[in-house]
Amino acid sequence: MTMRKIRLGVNIDHVATIRNARGGIHPDPVNAALLAEKAGADGITAHLREDRRHISDHDIDRLMEKLSVPLNLEMAATTEMLDIALKHRPASACIVPEKRQELTTEGGLDVVRGYDDLRPFVLKLRQANISVSLFIDPDEEQIRASKNIGAHKVELHTGTYVDKTGDARLAELERLRRGAALCETLDLEVHAGHGLNYETVRAIAEIPQFTELNIGHFLIGEAIFIGLAETMRKMKSLMDLGRKNVEQE
Ligand code: PXP
Repeated sequence: MTMRKIRLGVNIDHVATIRNARGGIHPDPVNAALLAEKAGADGITAHLREDRRHISDHDIDRLMEKLSVPLNLEMAATTEMLDIALKHRPASACIVPEKRQELTTEGGLDVVRGYDDLRPFVLKLRQANISVSLFIDPDEEQIRASKNIGAHKVELHTGTYVDKTGDARLAELERLRRGAALCETLDLEVHAGHGLNYETVRAIAEIPQFTELNIGHFLIGEAIFIGLAETMRKMKSLMDLGRKNVEQE
């Protein structure tokens, strides 16, 4: 069996959260992105939120200018964000639901109910050669709707799996497993992310269809203690351990 690669996308939003707490320029999320790139990140993810609570427009300008690895721009399906994406043409855009009051992205996008509204966004991004990802829960209907709407890939929400414990966590892991397998049968690339940490990442990497994990909050938090490069090294070695099990299947 050939080795199925798994990429690590590093989300740098929370470097900007710390910067913005004081309103200055330190720490610079673009420096963090360049450091992550040097330490082996396969891609950088940044979420430009409507309220600009962490990443700013200027950060996106500089990321586009300075990064060598692909930028995955997380964005809400709004005309403002679409214009920004079309101006910058990042390698990929991940459409996420966004509420002003939430602390972080809560739940996946409802592609089934929002199909008609989302479709023009997906088409315009596609026409600009941007690879379109939809952030969804591991739900069969959402996966099928994502395929039908023309997304290149989906990112399955791992937040519920991480938040649960015991049997409930195992049940959610099984949903993720089934969801990822369905994506493969539909020829839909499948990523995963949200809330992942050292404890939870390995079982996710063991799911063979996942080609990329996007991780932010835990990596940035842990970097305070041991540095970003070392945190990424540990995270990648746990991902590789999960992949080893896949190879042995
Ligand atoms: N993927 C998506 C779509 C997200 O919205 C986020 C959070 O911004 C992440 C991955 C990363 O989640 P976390 O910061 O909890 O690792």
